[in-house]
Parts: sequence; C-alpha cells; structure tokens
Amino acid sequence: MRILLYRADGKTEPWVRDFSEALPKTEVVTWQEGDRSAQCDYAVLWSPPAALIGQLSKVKAIFLAGAGVDAILKFGDALPDAPIIRLGDAGMAVQMAEYVTHAVLRYFRRFDEYEKQARRGIWAPLPQYEKKDFSVGVLGMGVLGSRALRALADFGFPLRGWSRTQKAVDGVACFSGMDSLDEFLAGTRVLVCMLPLTPETTNLLDRGRLSMLPKGAYLINVARGAHVAEPDLLTLIRSDHLAGATLDVFRNEPLPAPHPFWEEPRISMTPHISALTVREDSVRQIAAKIKALENDEPVADVVDRTRGY
Ligand code: NAP
Ligand code: GLV
Repeated sequence: MRILLYRADGKTEPWVRDFSEALPKTEVVTWQEGDRSAQCDYAVLWSPPAALIGQLSKVKAIFLAGAGVDAILKFGDALPDAPIIRLGDAGMAVQMAEYVTHAVLRYFRRFDEYEKQARRGIWAPLPQYEKKDFSVGVLGMGVLGSRALRALADFGFPLRGWSRTQKAVDGVACFSGMDSLDEFLAGTRVLVCMLPLTPETTNLLDRGRLSMLPKGAYLINVARGAHVAEPDLLTLIRSDHLAGATLDVFRNEPLPAPHPFWEEPRISMTPHISALTVREDSVRQIAAKIKALENDEPVADVVDRTRGY
C-alpha cells in the first residue's frame, strides 16, 4: 500500500515519519510541484494544487489534514470519484472551545477596556454586563460548534445554536434553516461563526444579516473569512451598531497590508490559529480510517459533495 502526502507548507517530514510508524507495511511518499506522478492508494492532503488533483485518478480515498473542505471541493469535477474524508475533531474541538470561550469572556468581562484603562493609569471599575443580556449564538452545531457550546454552558450564558438540520440540545435554543436565521440573529448578543464554507454560507454575514443583531452585538469568526462581507462588518462597527469583532479568518490570508482591519481597535485578530491540526491525533485518526477502508468497514467524516461539507 502506498500513501502520498502533500502539504502546501512543505512540512511533510514529521508526517511521513508518523505515518510510517502507524502503518509499518506502507510506503509513504511525498509530492512536490513539478512531479509527474501521484500514484498511490490513499492521499493525505492540505491545500493541494490543481496539478496534484489531476494526477489522483486511481486513488481509493483522499484524506484531508484539516476540518474544512472548501480548499478541495473548489476543484469540482476535476476531483476523482473516490471518497473525500476530513478530520473529525482530532484535537481541534477543544482548541476552538478555548478560543471562543476566551473571546466571549473577554468581551463580557470588558477586559479590553480594562487593558486600555490600565495603560492610561486609570483605576475605575466599569458597570458589569448582565448574563441574561448576553446570549451567545453559535452558527454551526457540528463537531466544533457543539464543543464550544458545551464549554460556554458552564458559564451560564443563554445559548442558541443554528444548523441546517434541527437539533435538540439541553440548555441550547436550537434553530435550523434559512427561515429561522433572522429570529436567531435578532436574539443573539455574541455571534460565533463555526460554519463550513459552502455556496449557501458564503457571504452569509452581510450588512443585512449583521444589522439584525441587536445594537452592541459582537462577532467572533473562527470558520472562514468568506462568510463575512468585510466592508459591511467595518461599517457596522464604525457606526456603533456592532461593538466589535474577534476574527481568526479572513477573505485573503495572510491579511494584506494595508487593510482597514489593521487600523480598527475594536477588531481583535489572530492569524488562523483558533484550531490547529494536531499531527499525532490526525495521523492516528487517518491511519485507523485507512485500516477500516482496507477491511471494507465504514468510516466517519466522509464529505457529502452535494451538501458541500
Ligand atoms: P461540521 O461538523 O461539518 O459542522 C458543520 C455545521 O454547520 C453543522 O451543524 C451543519 O448543520 C451546519 N451547517 C452547514 N451548512 C449550513 C447551512 N447552510 N445552514 C445552517 N447550518 C449549516 O464542521 P466542523 O468540524 O464543526 O467545522 C466547521 C468549520 O470550521 C470547518 O468547515 C472549517 O471551515 C472551520 N475550521 C476553522 C479552523 C480555524 O482554525 N479557523 C479550524 C478548523 C475548522 P447540520 O448539523 O444540520 O449538518
Ligand atoms: C482549518 O482551518 C481547518 O479547516 O482545519
């Protein structure tokens, strides 16, 4: 059996080592731009180029070394028919829960304002926000969204979740489908985006939708930059409709300079690090799935190409 590895960052060496250990009778090879052959049984990819996709016609399955599938589904009809299998959690969900909880608490407890006061030598308690006014609404109740909701539940925020299919989760007001989105947004003080990027969710958070959030609402986007119309977000923050945003993802990454987000103090930014791929967990998960496929057993996290995630 042969496994082919490709990572856009070129850091394949530790992956080769770990896969060789996890699947000892396997030949593990890498692919570089310019290579003419990608013959393999299984490919493990992150942000592959079109040239590689075109060489994968005989692959049995494509594994993604991440949770999001937009960077592969964009190849559309050029993709082989083989199943595409993403990571399911593999150490990312707890990181998302940490990131989102931190961002919610930082806004709720006014830590940014205290930080500014401290720099100016000001000792002055601010009025506390009330939890009953601080509903947190999570767009996407999948692997990552549901883990973040679980973490937030411990703090007693009123919680809401929005998904494509209806859910029932204790302590979470659940909404589903486009018809319920306006109502979901209208009752959300902190909006957390944890959706996959699909044709339906691209530009979902435009001026109209963001305006449905109550005045003083806050956005946390940890999914993909293209969910948000960036100029609209900026306009709504600068007009004081929104209090600010914490953004981990952007339409163009790295965020170019100049970009107005760099200058806006009410936008906190991180460089797409809210949930990093954990190599050890990922190799373990993918190796187990390869063994299952070799035994004709079903595996989880197969991407539904029609749905787009
Ligand atoms: P997932 O398990 O597939 O969950 C996706 C959720 O979104 C599901 O609840 C799904 O609804 C919902 N959804 C999809 N399309 C929808 C629509 N049109 N309307 C309403 N709800 C919709 O995905 P995940 O593992 O949680 O990951 C979510 C995304 O996070 C990934 O796709 C990736 O883009 C992003 N991500 C970012 C980072 C980072 O570092 N910034 C790291 C990892 C992942 P159903 O439950 O009804 O299917
Ligand atoms: C990272 O953004 C991922 O989708 O895993």
